[in-house]
Amino acid sequence: MAIAATIRQPTEECILPGLFSVEAILKTENLWKLYRAGKVDVPALRGINFEVLPGEAVAVMGPSGCGKSSLLYVIGGLAQASRGRVLVDGNDLTAMSDAERTKLRRHKIGFVFQRFNLLPTLTAQGNIAIAQYIHGDGFDPHRFDVVTKMLGLDGRLHHKPSELSGGEQQRVAIARAIINEPKILLADEPTGNLDTKNSEIVLAMLRQLNKDLGQTVVMITHNPEAASYFDRIVHMRDGVIVDGVSAD
Ligand SMILES: Nc1ncnc2c1ncn2[C@@H]1O[C@H](COP(=O)(O)OP(=O)(O)OP(=O)(O)O)[C@@H](O)[C@H]1O
Ligand SMILES: [Mg+2]
Repeated sequence: MAIAATIRQPTEECILPGLFSVEAILKTENLWKLYRAGKVDVPALRGINFEVLPGEAVAVMGPSGCGKSSLLYVIGGLAQASRGRVLVDGNDLTAMSDAERTKLRRHKIGFVFQRFNLLPTLTAQGNIAIAQYIHGDGFDPHRFDVVTKMLGLDGRLHHKPSELSGGEQQRVAIARAIINEPKILLADEPTGNLDTKNSEIVLAMLRQLNKDLGQTVVMITHNPEAASYFDRIVHMRDGVIVDGVSAD
């Protein structure tokens, strides 16, 4: 665990038994998310305290409507918190302007969704490389090779999304999400549109990215078998975490 962990002096917040303390890469404090429905605010998240250590692979499970996607979008800076704090690599997202939050998201977070959201007119290579250009550092051939080989895409790079299987499309989406070395990869039901065989391949690759590259991953899933690939399973219900809140 925690290949890329930053070892710090012990604090009261997070002390691994008998070891050094490791500072959370992601932390929420009393996090609330309310949605306006007519004249009332409906709470999707109700005071979530949650943390993820560098190098952890965490699965989030819970019934439909319990707030899993809301949690992912708020911690990933795609949606604004209503109350409480979100700390990503020590930066308080909730104290930032929209522009600052977008910048932080681009540099520190990678997203993967159930629908692959690839650009249909670009090849697999184009879909991945464009993320490097948008990030601002330009094309990095070494990183591109490492990521595409690890995801088994080297033979498929010149195909457009419509010429790829669902599993291959999702692997392109994962490559795009991690090409700029984000601190955290967030995945919202990444195997939700895949058959069993492709789901297993995608999950094994997410696990490998975590083990071999130290990629921190938080993944939502409805499937207990998918969750079992991960170090820790967090269970949510009605906007709160009921189990698996921290790494120890
Ligand atoms: N944009 C929105 N506007 C209003 N209510 C919303 C919005 N997004 C989500 N909700 C509500 O917030 C609650 C949590 O939704 P969320 O999408 O986070 O659940 P989920 O656990 O991801 O569910 P699923 O497993 O079905 O994807 C639900 O009651 C949902 O109807
Ligand atoms: Mg959801």
